[in-house]
Amino acid sequence: MSEIPSDFDPRLEPAGASDESIQRVHAGLLHTKPEPEPGGYELTPLLLLGFMSGLILACCIFFVHNRGGFDSLVYNGQLNGAGVVSADLTPAQIIARGKSLYGQTCIQCHQPTGLGVPGSYPPLAGSDIVQGDPERLIRIILDGLKDPIMLNGNQFVTPNKMPAFAPGMPGGLYNWSDAKISYVLTYIRQDFANKADPITADQVSAVHAKIADRKVEWTMKELPTTP
Ligand code: HEC
Repeated sequence: MSEIPSDFDPRLEPAGASDESIQRVHAGLLHTKPEPEPGGYELTPLLLLGFMSGLILACCIFFVHNRGGFDSLVYNGQLNGAGVVSADLTPAQIIARGKSLYGQTCIQCHQPTGLGVPGSYPPLAGSDIVQGDPERLIRIILDGLKDPIMLNGNQFVTPNKMPAFAPGMPGGLYNWSDAKISYVLTYIRQDFANKADPITADQVSAVHAKIADRKVEWTMKELPTTP
């Protein structure tokens, strides 16, 4: 008869599994899947990646074609996708558009009052250039203006240049359509107590066609004088 060990407790069951047997079973389970090879790729994620990249590319192409030049007027109901006015605007709508365009750009230099800044930006209020010959005014907005100018009989000198608003001007920040230019010009001819006839998009286009090759700002000497 074998001797009963001194730590034998009849209330405890003998262990069913030892540490070694547990490790052996786990090791077997862990190795059912082969280790991925370093640098190896699996087919499914690669297809997914390709699909997602294609989707993002398609979205970008769609966006580039439909961004409308980030123009706030493009999504106006009266404009078609190309930003062209498809219905005639009333004089009040033209002034409203011109005012909004003035507020986005011209205002930073010519000021909300249209009075400009002495020595830096000439006034539009009361200006004989603004209220004078439409063709000269259109040329100034299309291509810009530099060097000293004569304004209401006085010389105005500034180190600054008037920027060009026609598309395709070297260094030009604005790519305004002839219609947009006509709105802002009509606005500045009729606000700030100015009184002059509106300027139509056709008038701007006619001048634009004449000077399409011009790629530098005008100087006052080159511009036809007000009749
Ligand atoms: C970055 C500043 C700047 C912006 C923006 C600007 N201008 Fe000018 N503008 C000038 C400067 C400077 C001159 C004078 C250039 C010179 O003396 O050669 C000028 C001259 C003019 C003139 C002729 C002089 C006069 O006072 O009548 C007109 C008209 C004019 N700007 C209209 C506009 C309109 C309209 C806009 C917006 C569509 C505009 N400008 C935006 C700086 C600016």
